[in-house]
Amino acid sequence: MKFATKLIHAGAEPDPSTGAIMVPIYQTSTYVQSAPGKNKGYEYARSQNPTRKALEDALAIIENAKHALCFGSGVAATDAVIKLLQPGDEVIAASDMYGGTYRLFTKVFEKFGIKFLYTDTTKVDNISSLLSNRTKLVWLETPTNPLMNITDIAAVAAITGPRKILLCVDNTFASPYLQNPLDLGADIVMHSATKYLGGHSDSIHGCLMMNDQELRDQLYFIQKSCGAVPGPMDCFLILRGLKTLHVRMQRHCENGTKVAHFLRNHPKIEKVYWCGFEDHPGYAIAKSQMRDFGGMMSFTLKDDSIENANRVLSSTKVFALAESLGGVESLINHPASMTHASIPREERIKNGLSDSLIRLSVGIEDADDLIDDLNQAIG
Ligand SMILES: Cc1ncc(COP(=O)(O)O)c(C=O)c1O
Repeated sequence: MKFATKLIHAGAEPDPSTGAIMVPIYQTSTYVQSAPGKNKGYEYARSQNPTRKALEDALAIIENAKHALCFGSGVAATDAVIKLLQPGDEVIAASDMYGGTYRLFTKVFEKFGIKFLYTDTTKVDNISSLLSNRTKLVWLETPTNPLMNITDIAAVAAITGPRKILLCVDNTFASPYLQNPLDLGADIVMHSATKYLGGHSDSIHGCLMMNDQELRDQLYFIQKSCGAVPGPMDCFLILRGLKTLHVRMQRHCENGTKVAHFLRNHPKIEKVYWCGFEDHPGYAIAKSQMRDFGGMMSFTLKDDSIENANRVLSSTKVFALAESLGGVESLINHPASMTHASIPREERIKNGLSDSLIRLSVGIEDADDLIDDLNQAIG
């Protein structure tokens, strides 16, 4: 089946008890057994839930994976991956990535003896030079949040695969519509399904997709033992969101292209970070591993003061000033004080994330209205 058909039909079996075409929200904590240990495959909802199972089946199919597991948020999914590790193990991670991932690594897991080494993963040699016999995981985000840096997933997999180092890719920014990391050699794909997968800014959700059965079993054990599972209502919302992922993403990409070019040609804009520009350093890799370039971008103003950035951030009328991304509505965000506030300032600046950087999640409204709105806000 082609991607659009998969999205509509993946995991969507009619409900066996009623024939309902939409998967019901199985709002239950437990399941009645006919005798001890005799059940219909469901014992307790932390371990299994039919709405979650339908979503996991669908998520596996759309990432070309054999298995998927759902979590209560994107960071809960990331948390489960790190719990595969032991004290003394080392992780190589991108120095420019979502601030909450950095916070989880440094503030929660470092104290359990896991070492995180951060580097510019766009240069694959940087990863090679940090490898040791303690390296157990490479964590990539591509494109990165918020600077849209691109890492060559297949080139990194060529380093990690033969050494049996796990490669996990945060595919939140691209979504499976644009990029499938497992096909490029990654072992695990992670999504904040809160974003493009759900697509309507009405649910917090995370997931992992993988092919290896043993890896799936280890992660399932962590999922049920640690209990960061999503409720059935949220699973239902993500399932519903998935059905329109392809049409939404197509429009995000079209609008993203128009907005990025508008910004680039605006006399008051200094720099636009969007991986669809031919002179973007990661363009060739993005073109080969992604199907299009998406609707996420960041920019700086020529008058680079915080005051001027704040003025623009507070002046948009269609773009709402809010954290998050990937919903149908356009959002404007100030990474330094919002999504990436947990990264120490000197680290942020070193990685190119300036105090005045503005991030856009371009939605699926009419592109002319989005451009008019930015034009009046930039002034
Ligand atoms: C790239 C990326 N990864 C992970 C997360 C965390 O996901 P959640 O907010 O669903 O926990 C986010 C959230 O903004 C994100 O942008």
